[in-house]
Amino acid sequence: MQLEAQDTPAQIPKTRAHLKSEAGTSTHPSRLTSAKTNSLSHMNRASDSGLNLKVLVVGGAGYIGSHTVYELIRNGHQVVVYDNLSSGHQSAVPEQAGFYLGDILDEHQLEQVLAQESASRPFDVAMHFAAKLIVPESVTQPLRYYHNNVEGLRVMLSALVAGGVRNIVFSSTAAVYGSTTGGECHEDDRTIPINPYGETKLAAERMIAWTAQAHGLNYAILRYFNVAGADTSLQIGLNKDQLTHLVPLIMQAALGQREKLEIFGRDYNTPDGTCIRDYVHVTDLAQAHVMAGEYIVKNERPLLCNLGSGRGFSVREVVEEALSMFSFRYAYAPRRCGDPAKLIANIERARHLLGWQPQRNLQTILQSDYDYRRRLISGQEPASQ
Ligand SMILES: NC(=O)c1ccc[n+]([C@@H]2O[C@H](COP(=O)([O-])OP(=O)(O)OC[C@H]3O[C@@H](n4cnc5c(N)ncnc54)[C@H](O)[C@@H]3O)[C@@H](O)[C@H]2O)c1
Repeated sequence: MQLEAQDTPAQIPKTRAHLKSEAGTSTHPSRLTSAKTNSLSHMNRASDSGLNLKVLVVGGAGYIGSHTVYELIRNGHQVVVYDNLSSGHQSAVPEQAGFYLGDILDEHQLEQVLAQESASRPFDVAMHFAAKLIVPESVTQPLRYYHNNVEGLRVMLSALVAGGVRNIVFSSTAAVYGSTTGGECHEDDRTIPINPYGETKLAAERMIAWTAQAHGLNYAILRYFNVAGADTSLQIGLNKDQLTHLVPLIMQAALGQREKLEIFGRDYNTPDGTCIRDYVHVTDLAQAHVMAGEYIVKNERPLLCNLGSGRGFSVREVVEEALSMFSFRYAYAPRRCGDPAKLIANIERARHLLGWQPQRNLQTILQSDYDYRRRLISGQEPASQ
């Protein structure tokens, strides 16, 4: 049994050597113990839905996946994470969750994990976060994106169908809409992605819908807008080598990790010339995943909805808000390739069907990312990162 992920060694965090030696002797996929005592036990509570689900979280060691794992556990659900750690961290997985080191492109191993876990209790829901998501990289390396995001999903769906898992929650993105004409994005709007990343996510959405129809699956496709912030525990947050999002870049400037923030483009067709985006706190987003999983299990019908705050802020407005809280330098730079002028979510469907309402505002998003990043710098971060 091969437990190694199929990425280049340079992308693999230090923990992998440890995991390999721990896992390599087994003939079956090994459920590994979390390297870190990242415990949520004091926060567990029964779900308001009355459900106790067993959930497979693929990509659950990453940013959004780990926050969703936290919320699932806080809501009394049982969680098993499957991740190749290409951009995630095992230390982001709390000790209450099971963990398998593995790649979604490895169908044999996925099937074995499903069979092994089903022996005690089958999964009720699978959540898929395991994707590559850097837009400029997708433009220069489209085939890597199709391989991981489309072929990876095909393999995973095939294993889920074979393993009898009937409910899937999928991470999609506002990038499927492409350039909007200026208003809010509705789920029924035309989808015309303008970069390979968005194309792979749209292809994935369609693959899920067709597979669901053929094999009787229920699915929730959740299209996120700009996700930012960190869990209140500050144990998890956005921890990547390559940061491309506005909020962490601001915080790096505020914490002296970069000389200044660059604002890409001031000639867009928006009131102040900078891009307008919709920022949603990662914990609000994670809670929507819990609700979506419960929704499809209870209602046995598909769901496709936007997840954002429903409010747009220009880059300039975010910078001004951050400047009222922290001090940092900024400068204007030319536009980046592939950035639409305006992306704002219409979130009525998520409100109506899930009863979901984001609770955390822009200030909370900024402050929590700052606090998390300061914690990383001060060396309190998990040893494996
Ligand atoms: N971060 C955002 O702002 C944003 C916005 C819209 C949509 N999304 C979507 O949300 C999902 C999660 O994003 P994130 O920001 O948490 O990214 P992330 O890189 O932090 O998490 C992805 C996780 O998946 C794992 N992974 C990747 N490929 C894998 C494979 N082949 N096999 C097993 N594990 C694999 C990585 O190791 C990582 O732990 C992605 O599907 C992304 O497209 C993110």
